Amino acid sequence: MSLADVIELRRATDPAWLKLAIERFDEVLIDHAHCEKKAAANALSILQAYPTVPGLPAQMARLAREEAAHLARVLQIMEKRGLVLGVDRGDPYAQGLQKLMRNPNAERQLDRFLVAGIIESRSHERLALLASGLEDPALQKFYDELAKSEDGHQKLFLRLAREIADDAVVEARLGQLLDGEAELIARLPIRAAVH
Ligand SMILES: [Fe+2]
Ligand SMILES: [Fe+2]
Repeated sequence: MSLADVIELRRATDPAWLKLAIERFDEVLIDHAHCEKKAAANALSILQAYPTVPGLPAQMARLAREEAAHLARVLQIMEKRGLVLGVDRGDPYAQGLQKLMRNPNAERQLDRFLVAGIIESRSHERLALLASGLEDPALQKFYDELAKSEDGHQKLFLRLAREIADDAVVEARLGQLLDGEAELIARLPIRAAVH
């Protein structure tokens, strides 16, 4: 069996999302800052929860640093546009994925890695769409760079999942979670937000 090294999403983003995201880009930017904040926090939370997985602490420390750097850059762009961060109103997409996670310890660990990877994969898709749709060359370049970075992160989480579970278990669970994510994407209303 040849194993994929990327998480392939099962439902593409509706083109209406990009149209809305470009029209209401300031709102997307603010949500994007919250996403990067949550990605950095999640990396440290995973480090805290699973320090014995080989290589994980250093990888999560680097990931947290990268996500925090993304956050700082988004905040800088927001500042230039006179935008303030405000309170995080929550993200129905992340909450929906949260509900798919199982609770027993071993299952929860695998699900956390796979769900984190799926979010990175979806973020990669959406940020690449922003790069293709925004007119400002500086913003295009910024989103292109971030999309590539998130693509690296989804691969990292998939590798971590393979560290802790058999290939067949990873494939089966990843398939279930990807189906759940596709269903969620189809069901949730389109928002002026990253997800
Ligand atoms: Fe990021
Ligand atoms: Fe990321």
